[in-house]
Order: sequence, then structure tokens, then C-alpha cells
Amino acid sequence: MIERLQHKYALSRQGATDMIKACTCVTITNITLMMPAGILFCLIKDLLEGTFTRERIPFYAAGSVAVIALIALTNFIQYNATFLTTYRESGVRRTTLAEKLRKLPLSYFGKKNIADLTTNIMGDCAQIETASSHWIPEMIGAVISVSLVGVSLFFAFDWRMVLASFWVIPVAFLIIITCAGAERRAVRKNSAVKLAMTDGIQECLESIRDLRANNAENRYMDELEEKIRNVEKEALLTELKMAVYVNSSAIILKIGIGTTAVVGGALFAKGEISILTFFMFLMLVSRLYDPMQITLQNFAAIISCGIQCERLDEVLSTKPQTGDEKINNNGFDIVFDHVGFQYSDDTDVLTDVSFTAKQGGVTALIGPSGGGKTTISRLAARFWDVNSGRITLGGVDISGIDPETLLKNYSIVF
Ligand SMILES: Nc1ncnc2c1ncn2[C@@H]1O[C@H](COP(=O)(O)OP(=O)(O)OP(=O)(O)O)[C@@H](O)[C@H]1O
Ligand SMILES: [Mg+2]
Repeated sequence: MIERLQHKYALSRQGATDMIKACTCVTITNITLMMPAGILFCLIKDLLEGTFTRERIPFYAAGSVAVIALIALTNFIQYNATFLTTYRESGVRRTTLAEKLRKLPLSYFGKKNIADLTTNIMGDCAQIETASSHWIPEMIGAVISVSLVGVSLFFAFDWRMVLASFWVIPVAFLIIITCAGAERRAVRKNSAVKLAMTDGIQECLESIRDLRANNAENRYMDELEEKIRNVEKEALLTELKMAVYVNSSAIILKIGIGTTAVVGGALFAKGEISILTFFMFLMLVSRLYDPMQITLQNFAAIISCGIQCERLDEVLSTKPQTGDEKINNNGFDIVFDHVGFQYSDDTDVLTDVSFTAKQGGVTALIGPSGGGKTTISRLAARFWDVNSGRITLGGVDISGIDPETLLKNYSIVF
């Protein structure tokens, strides 16, 4: 379970354990928050049945103080268990991600653009932070505590009233679950157009001098505006779809108030439940549905957050370049031995390249533009790994050496 949580929400092992603790704490806090309603119920019962006497006052006073103390204590524990651990985990996630990016082969950055990675580190981490500190523990805590209340009322009071007031909750969740696929598609599309826009803005800032020098500014700006309009259109569409899903489930919740009133009224009229039970269920639904509506919104947000988690998991699961942290090279001759290389696509950039760059000598690479000179110098420092053949430094195959150890032997003028 811990491992599944780790992958699903891009968490460290400690983070996954902390999330389980946070959910437990929110559940306990939710249950303590319902206790005042229990005391109120006992008080009304005493008043209605005429059993309220002077001797009962210390009971209610002590009960109220105890409940307030318990609420304060559970809130304090829950705060530490959710917020402090979440922000600690967020720090761990960002440094792990940065550390991972530092160790990934440059080929990875050839496939990903910078805007994508910036979004990963800044935006996705922030979104997951909110999900772990608010949405997930609050939703799981609410579902468990409401289920516990439902089951205990089922046995302690009238099961028909429990059905009349609780049936809407699973139905509302079912609506959100049914729409999950469409929601994910909308969020994925939304993220793609946002990335295209961020990438466009970044490119524009980086190349503004060239654009002006070549009188290409207006054409470029038109394309960028199109990208920005796409984001606006997709954002509106996504919001509209989310609003339809969440609001239809919220409307279902409100129907629950009606069924509780109708069933309760009928049972009371037949004399099968007391006015107190009827009143208690009405009080319950009015208190229960508002937090449930927030829980449903959280649930929809958690579903869309899955996209960010997938993207982070993809970075975290990419294999870094590794190797021995010691190198026993004999001199510093760099030898290319039948090297073949391609960047990401299937086009050969180098085929069967063999030469020796002698230690102490000058080796010049001469060739047409796009011939592969820069590629060769990058490969010599293991910025990429070769597809065939091997490159050695002082007789040691560099593909088996940790990149940081290897680079201690190189000086590079870019
Ligand atoms: N990061 C990359 N991803 C994909 N293809 C690349 C990448 N860098 C270079 N290439 C391609 O590899 C080939 C060799 O490029 P390289 O930059 O090594 O040539 P070069 O000999 O240094 O050229 P120049 O003299 O213009 O600097 C070219 O076809 C180039 O388009
Ligand atoms: Mg070059």
C-alpha cells in the first residue's frame, strides 16, 4: 500500500506513511467534531422527556469542557500530522526532483522542453502539496467518519431514516467517479495547451533580439496570441465540465434533505419514530451535506491532480546515468572505438567513428556544419551514452563511470 501511494502521489516512503497518519488524524478529528451534536441530542431528550434536573448540570458542563478539550487536542495533532509533514514532504519532493534532474542524462532534456520541466518543479509540486495537505486527508477522513456515523446510526436508531438520509452520498461519489475519465482528458488537454503557451513565451523572451533583427516579431506574436487564446478556451471548457460534474453531484446531495423529511414525516405520522429521532436526522443532514459537498469538490480535484502526479512520477522513475565512483585511468588519451550514435529519433548522427585524441596533443575536429563535431565532444564527456561501440578515457570505458567522477577529468569551454 505504501509503495502504491508513493507512485500515485509522487511521495517519499516517509511521505506515504505520513499521509496514512494524516488521514487517521482527520477521521478522529471529524468524529470529535460531531460530539457536540451528541451532547445537544442528550440535552434535548432530557428536556423533552422532563428528566432534566439540577444533578444533570455538572454532567453537561463536564461533558462540554471535555469535548472542547478533545477537539482542541485532536485539531492540534491533526495540524501537525497534515500540514507540517506535508510541507516537509514538499521540500523532500522538490529537492529529490532537482537532484534527479541533475543526474539525468542530457538525452532526457533533449526530449523534454524547459517549460515542461519548470512546470514540473514549480506548478506540479505546488498542486500536489495542496492535495496532500488538504484534499486527500480531508476526503478520506470525511468518508471514513461519515461511514462510521452512518453505521452506528443504522444500529442505534432507525435504519430507514439512515437510508433516507445517506443514500445520496454514494450516488454523488458515483457521479464524480463516472466522470473521472472525461475530467482527466480535459485536464490533460488543458495542461498541454498551457505548456505550449509557457514554451512560446519563454522562446519569445529568449529570441526577441533575433525576431526583431529579422522583422519576424509580428508573425511570431500572432502565433503566440493563438496559443494564449487556446489556453483561455480550454480553461473555460475544463471549468465548465468540472462545474457540471461537481454541481450535479451537489444537487443529488440536496435531494437527500427532501427524502429525509418525507420518510421521517411518514414514519413519525405512523408513530414509528419519535419527534426527537426525526429532529436529530434533520439536524444531521443539514450539518452533513455542506462538508460532503466540499469533499466532492476535493475528490474531483484529486482526480485531476493525478495528471500532475503522473508527470512527476515519470521524471522520478527515469533511470539516471550511473557508474563507478572511482576511475583507474592510465593517462588521458580519449579513444573513440567504432562509435555509433543517434539522438532521440532514428537518424544516425555518427556511424562507426574511430579516432584517438592523444594526451598532451591538440585534436581538431573539422567537418561541415551538422557533421557531428559538437556531438563528438559531448559524447567524449558522457553527456549522452553512445548507441554502439565505446569511448575510453585512459583505457577505461566511460559508460561505466559515474558522470560526476568522470567530469572531474575534463575542462570544457562551451
Ligand atoms: N540535441 C539534439 N537533438 C537532436 N539532434 C541533434 C541535437 N544536437 C544536434 N543534433 C543533430 O545532430 C547532427 C550533428 O550536430 P552537431 O551539432 O554535432 O554538428 P556540428 O558538426 O557541431 O555542426 P556545427 O558546425 O554547425 O556546429 C545534426 O544533424 C544536428 O541537427
Ligand atoms: Mg558544433
